[in-house]
Amino acid sequence: MKVLLLGSGGREHAMAWALAKSPQLSKLWAAPGSDGMAALAERVALDPLDPKAVAVFCREHGVELLIVGPEAPLAAGVADAVRAAGVPVFGPGRDGARLESSKAFAKDFMLRHGLPTAKARVGGMKDALAAVREFGGRCAVKADGLAGGKGVVVCASLAEAEAAVASLASTAAGGTLLVEELLTGPEISMMAVLDGTRYALLPSSQDHKRLLDGDQGPNTGGMGALCPVPLKPALLARIKADIFDRALAGLKKDGLDFRGVLYAGLMLTPDGPKTLEFNARLGDPETQAILPMLDADFLSLCLDCAQGALRMESVPAKPGSAVSIVVAAEGYPESPKPGAVLTPEGAAGLDGVLVFHAGTKKDGARWLASGGRVLAVVGLGADLAAARERAYSALPRVAGPALRWRKDVAAKMLGRILA
Ligand code: AMP
Ligand code: GLY
Repeated sequence: MKVLLLGSGGREHAMAWALAKSPQLSKLWAAPGSDGMAALAERVALDPLDPKAVAVFCREHGVELLIVGPEAPLAAGVADAVRAAGVPVFGPGRDGARLESSKAFAKDFMLRHGLPTAKARVGGMKDALAAVREFGGRCAVKADGLAGGKGVVVCASLAEAEAAVASLASTAAGGTLLVEELLTGPEISMMAVLDGTRYALLPSSQDHKRLLDGDQGPNTGGMGALCPVPLKPALLARIKADIFDRALAGLKKDGLDFRGVLYAGLMLTPDGPKTLEFNARLGDPETQAILPMLDADFLSLCLDCAQGALRMESVPAKPGSAVSIVVAAEGYPESPKPGAVLTPEGAAGLDGVLVFHAGTKKDGARWLASGGRVLAVVGLGADLAAARERAYSALPRVAGPALRWRKDVAAKMLGRILA
């Protein structure tokens, strides 16, 4: 099977790694891909945001499956154009991708279809200012539109909330803002693969969004993840029934043929799980921890979804756990400093350790940091503690003091089961 993968980050390196293990794969292209995944996929100079160019490439090269990694090509309508050219696509069309690209659309979808979520007010700056007063300043202010994780401010006072409204109003798509009641509880990421009429849950995961240890500092794209999150079976059943069953029914009712990943960011509140956000693609860095745990052929899974032929209710996982730790450049997220030297080869051959590149560049024989999030080191083990230990003991072989990473990834979940 000939496959084209769109994207270039750590998530896509992990996807390429999982696809390359499939006996069905005969050829893998990545656009634009990265130096880090060059051994797995042929890189193509193709703009992933240009639907027509991607469709022409697929037709001319006999691509049999397009897999879309990031959200921007989905929002740009790449899946629609390639599907119209007769090629199966893993990734929703622009209509389904609105669940991620518009927070206002997603909130309306959740409310209409009875998914538990935070109470919210949606509108322009004037409505948002009225809403922050209504919530007494304790609220989350969100800008509509794709914001790369930067469109949300969690506020504890009226002054903070008014300032958040003022600063987000200029970046919000159409000037639309959401103001939500403040929820509390542990956060987890639940993802499912959908084939248009059915879904199968992927193993649960947990991101670490803040830059610094102890969940301090600014929000980032994600500084580390663990998989699976130890969850009581009753909680998992409730997440399925209240969130994913209702989301699937809602998609059908709204006539959305969603084939790809539905990612629900959940907060486990004292009143039960509530949906904070939807994404229309796999999470990063969750994917780097989830894919090594799958006891399934990732290529077949993507193809079955793309063809409307999903054959399972949940994707089987291997026993044990995975922990991914993101190495970031100094100055990330505001102004990452490029050029730090990395030695990913230092982890080669280590048992239960994987390295997925995100922002690196090959410079002769050396690897240099070229982005904010540089790479992820993943440890696999019999339990969370063992996986964590593997990742942390491999890290100094890969990255030096010019780079930074959290020292407490997965620490809070050791010995815990969420109910
Ligand atoms: P989102 O992009 O909507 O998931 O928001 C980013 C982060 O902001 C989430 O991971 C939460 O930590 C926080 N957040 C979002 N909405 C709320 C809310 N209603 N209450 C408390 N925290 C929130
Ligand atoms: N790790 C959060 C996300 O992918 O949106």
